[in-house]
Amino acid sequence: MASPLPLTFFILSFSLVVSTSISSNEKETHLHFYFHDIVIGKSPTAMRIAQANTTDTSKTLFGALVMIDDPLTESSDLDSKLIGHAQGMYALASQEEAGLMMAMTFSFVDQEFNGSTLVVLGRNAVFDEVREMPVIGGSGKFRFAKGYVLAKTYAFDLKTGNAVVEYDVHVRHW
Ligand SMILES: *[C@@H]1O[C@H](CO)[C@@H](O)[C@H](O)[C@H]1NC(C)=O
Ligand SMILES: *[C@@H]1O[C@H](CO)[C@@H](O)[C@H](O)[C@H]1NC(C)=O
Repeated sequence: MASPLPLTFFILSFSLVVSTSISSNEKETHLHFYFHDIVIGKSPTAMRIAQANTTDTSKTLFGALVMIDDPLTESSDLDSKLIGHAQGMYALASQEEAGLMMAMTFSFVDQEFNGSTLVVLGRNAVFDEVREMPVIGGSGKFRFAKGYVLAKTYAFDLKTGNAVVEYDVHVRHW
């Protein structure tokens, strides 16, 4: 009579290998930096590229689409060390409040993450104290990335629309 042991052993070792290969190389990284959205200034980093014909009469600027290449720096000072750039777009997507739909890539230039990217896509109600947005992917050191960001306004100039936003990024990746 054949012993059932080899089959059991095979199933056991197989499931062991699968779970090990999924979890063993996963890392969790926390990044902290400041995002500078300069709408008006000597070198703007955020530019409106499209709008609806009703955008300028909308209280929430509904329908505006803004292209950004915003510097990410180590401290709230724009002249502090450059960590990377937030490149992409945000759309004024709410008719009730200042609510953005953000679609951007954080492209890092500093140290071990130089050349790696993270992709953030989500809703950003800019007058909320803390906004959470999903990290939906990444490249380089951030392959297989998933996680979230917490965005908090550090400074906002109502006249120009210029903003400095503190970002905490929590991401799991390989
Ligand atoms: C906006 O565009 C639509 C469609 O072209 C037009 O019907 C409407 O009158 C325009 N509204 C304004 C405020 O210009
Ligand atoms: C980042 O990588 C680029 C291209 O490989 C290189 O030219 C640059 O010196 C690197 N920057 C830092 C801070 O390591």
